[in-house]
Amino acid sequence: MFGRGAVWSVLKRSKEACGIYKLRGRTPFSPYTQNSFKFFTPPVAAHYFHAFQSRLLPKGEHVPHMRNFSKMVSAEARHKEELKMLVTAGSHARKVVGIWLFGSAAWVFSMVVLGGLTRLTRSGLSMTDWKFTGTLPPLSDEEWLQEFEKYKQSPEYKRVNRGMKIEEFKFIYWMEYAHRMWGRALGVIFALPYSYFLHKGYITVRLGLRLCALFALGAGQGLIGWWMVKSGLEEPPSEYSPPRVSPYRLAAHLTSAFAIYCGLFWTALSVVMPEPPAESLTWVRGAAKVRRLALPISVLVGLTAVSGAFVAGNDAGHAFNTFPKMGDTWIPEDIFEMKPLIRNFFENTSTVQLDHRVLATATLISMGVLWWSTRKLDIHPAVRSVIGGALGMAALQVTLGISTLLSYVPVSLGTAHQAGALTLLTFMLLLNHTIRRPSLSLLKSLPQVVKAH
Ligand code: HEM
Repeated sequence: MFGRGAVWSVLKRSKEACGIYKLRGRTPFSPYTQNSFKFFTPPVAAHYFHAFQSRLLPKGEHVPHMRNFSKMVSAEARHKEELKMLVTAGSHARKVVGIWLFGSAAWVFSMVVLGGLTRLTRSGLSMTDWKFTGTLPPLSDEEWLQEFEKYKQSPEYKRVNRGMKIEEFKFIYWMEYAHRMWGRALGVIFALPYSYFLHKGYITVRLGLRLCALFALGAGQGLIGWWMVKSGLEEPPSEYSPPRVSPYRLAAHLTSAFAIYCGLFWTALSVVMPEPPAESLTWVRGAAKVRRLALPISVLVGLTAVSGAFVAGNDAGHAFNTFPKMGDTWIPEDIFEMKPLIRNFFENTSTVQLDHRVLATATLISMGVLWWSTRKLDIHPAVRSVIGGALGMAALQVTLGISTLLSYVPVSLGTAHQAGALTLLTFMLLLNHTIRRPSLSLLKSLPQVVKAH
């Protein structure tokens, strides 16, 4: 509830800040054109440039001729900040593109949760092949039996699920199938509106390139997923070890999902909030002070999340189910047992869990320091709310982590802990976005202190 209030407050105030664009009015000189010039310098790709531009410019937008180039250069300085806007076709376009991008980010969030559920219900190795475009699920009893026969050849069936009933197999199969198809559906949800908005001229070159990169990451995520699953279908190194996907590949899959989510959420914020909420120079100075701490803490949150992926990948949540001590000691004796030393940080159950505990504790403490050191600072109320929300979320996440560990990683808590990590990252994204440096023209228009409304 608190978090939602903070987000709403940021968006509302940013809308007011963006009023500067409305007041100044739209100029005949289009920022699309400037964007295009940054990437395609004449005469190298003049032909391509005009063809591309005619698709991007919204109806009625003036296309300047090359002879106006000098005028454009001077205008470029005046409108430099407009260049940074990802959607320049008006507030309606900003709104619909923003909704679509926030929706896509929410879809990725749900994919992460579904992926966590798939892993925690041990369903991830039920489908033994993969096609980029996907296939229909088994539709008849005969097809189900065929799929089940394939699964019976896998090490997971032979070593862990021997004697499994077909009804049980159907459950794990449907979990994995849903996860894969949910991902493919995201591709469609992303690509179709993208083409439509491109056709309408809502998407600038800057935004277009960024979204293409995110789309490529999304397609790559499917490949990484299959690369991960394949490692779990291979025979384990010893007859005593259960089949498990490679922790490196699991961490790559989870980190890539987090990166796609962060990219989409950040881009959505930048579309609806081209300027940070800044109403006075004092608040801008306050935000700069917050930035110094917020950036390194965000990196720390990211590192903690990646270390969590290694905990999950090594099934390290099933060892040392005590807190704060790890068993009877604070630091297990075998943390540097593996050779070379570096392997311990990624493959040794004790070291991986110790790392995660240390990083999580450091995250919580630094979040407390951020809150404490900014509590008397003159900053925008929205920034203060987001800091408070982030601290609350970090405390909740640590509580969830400890509960997950103490109760031997039940599906419900494990999934909540995974969703909690993404929620904490969301708070950090929101905070970093809210305390960005405003454009020069917004800075020039700001009073020293906030005027009483
Ligand atoms: C800021 C704090 C924390 C963050 C951001 C965080 C993040 C994560 C992430 C991203 C995962 C991987 C999730 C998955 O793939 O299922 C994970 C797993 C895990 N974390 Fe944390 N964590 C935090 C604190 C803690 C704490 C304090 C503990 C307990 C001491 C803990 C225990 C675990 C365990 C046992 C797992 C493995 C769960 C599984 O096998 O699914 N976490 N964590």
